[in-house]
Amino acid sequence: MTDHLSALPPPSDAGLVVLVTGASRGIGRGIACAFAAQGATVAVCGRNAASISAVVDEVVTTGGAAFPICADVSIPADVDRMVRSVVERCGRLDVLVNNAGVYLTAPVVEMSDEDWDLTIAIDLKGVFLCSRAAARQMIEQRSGRIVNISSIAQFRGGTPGHAHYGAAKGGVGAFSKTLAKELGPSGITVNCVAPGLIEDTDMGATSKDLMGQSYLATIPLGCLGKVQDVVDAVLFLSSNRARYITGETLNVNGGSHMV
Ligand SMILES: NC(=O)c1ccc[n+]([C@@H]2O[C@H](COP(=O)([O-])OP(=O)(O)OC[C@H]3O[C@@H](n4cnc5c(N)ncnc54)[C@H](OP(=O)(O)O)[C@@H]3O)[C@@H](O)[C@H]2O)c1
Repeated sequence: MTDHLSALPPPSDAGLVVLVTGASRGIGRGIACAFAAQGATVAVCGRNAASISAVVDEVVTTGGAAFPICADVSIPADVDRMVRSVVERCGRLDVLVNNAGVYLTAPVVEMSDEDWDLTIAIDLKGVFLCSRAAARQMIEQRSGRIVNISSIAQFRGGTPGHAHYGAAKGGVGAFSKTLAKELGPSGITVNCVAPGLIEDTDMGATSKDLMGQSYLATIPLGCLGKVQDVVDAVLFLSSNRARYITGETLNVNGGSHMV
């Protein structure tokens, strides 16, 4: 029987082409800079032209290769244009990191239809749209890695005020398993990274304010996470070291939730 394992270009090869959504700040920015530091060419996606250009400038100043793509992951035409422009520019797409996300707060009985729809549109449908567009290219290449940033909420549900967020992240976990089954025969892996509270981002700061100090006592490793903790998990799942891992979720939460 023929296996479907595929190898990406080695990490030292500048040919690795990586697309990171939500790369204007926070975890996405960290992932984009880390791939660039390893010699990849990185497409930096976000909605705000000035902030994604600032990340690109930072990468280029330190000798890396990156370019900006202004796109909203919840808009199908934006997503298709985004992936098309990566392939037109670089000839391929090796790694997609679906990182873009929003974290709105409202208890269900006070939640507006708009807040529900926006969260699902960005945090869940955005993952579908970007994965679909990227997978079409990766199937042609017969190789690729898709890494979806979910959340501890994938397993626990959102904290009070975040039912929409928990529903979206749970959906990302289930979606990723089906996609892994569909793309495995083409040599493409699909995995999730599920962070706990990552304190050094805008979203993490909001979450920290809402959770309070008592949350710390529930974390066996005794501290909140940092962007670098998520970056390391993404780099591993995107590498050839993870070539036989697909449909999996790597928890990065200091032990606060064990699956
Ligand atoms: N921080 C945490 O504690 C934590 C924990 C678990 C999971 N996560 C997940 O990790 C990911 C990153 O979180 P973070 O803490 O880095 O958040 P963040 O600091 O708020 O950054 C969110 C990023 O997503 C982008 N974004 C939002 N909506 C977008 C859209 N429609 N299209 C394109 N980009 C969009 C933002 O870009 P612009 O607004 O500039 O467009 C920004 O770059 C999210 O998926 C989040 O759910 C975070």
